Amino acid sequence: MKNTNTNLNLKEDAALKALQFVKDHITIGLGTGSTTAIFIKLLGEKIQKENLDVLCCTTSYQSFLLAKEYHIKVVPIQYFDEIDISVDGADEVDPQFNLIKGGGAAHTLEKIVHSMSKNFICIVDPSKKVSHLGEKFFVPVEIIPEAVEVVKKKLFTLNAKEVNLRMAQKKDGPVVTDNGHLILDVKFENFQPEELEIKINAIPGVVENGIFALYKPNILIVGGEEVQYKK
Ligand code: A5P
Repeated sequence: MKNTNTNLNLKEDAALKALQFVKDHITIGLGTGSTTAIFIKLLGEKIQKENLDVLCCTTSYQSFLLAKEYHIKVVPIQYFDEIDISVDGADEVDPQFNLIKGGGAAHTLEKIVHSMSKNFICIVDPSKKVSHLGEKFFVPVEIIPEAVEVVKKKLFTLNAKEVNLRMAQKKDGPVVTDNGHLILDVKFENFQPEELEIKINAIPGVVENGIFALYKPNILIVGGEEVQYKK
């Protein structure tokens, strides 16, 4: 969706509210996307201003480059067994805090990092709220290139309504992820998030899908609203 001024302000509000969870000597997992990009900038400024000792890992080239630009200390994910907080945006969030992610094709590393985090903080503008997942957004599925056709067929057996290979904008051919894989964007209707997340990942050739129900945020910050905690 286009970034209107209102949206930008609400993304910034969510990112600003997430900053209150940043303390000295903690470790942070940095997600990917336009909302997280705002958080990374604000984090860099806070670290400089308050002279904080904070160690981060990133979930994409995008967030790595941004973190470097703002002089944030970054180490490989493998350096950590556990992370204190992770902060990331989403493409859709339902009332139970289930998410669809992967609009930026970074959901595989994002899911790994959030699964290691003691506190997964999701920051979104209100346009991301839905009553059930799949309302507006297709489910991104990262796959091994050789498996495109076979995975497509299996997705239809799971009641997919439409399956599209994601095409690149400024490169001929498909989007190739930071991990060297392809993305299928899949339309599903009326699904149980946890069940579908598990079933898609059971298809041979699937690396990871963008439903975050097994590892969902425990803190949700919607721009312009109060911070919400998962009960
Ligand atoms: C990256 O692959 C995604 O999971 C993003 O976190 C998600 O698309 C949200 O991005 P925006 O903050 O740009 O909406």
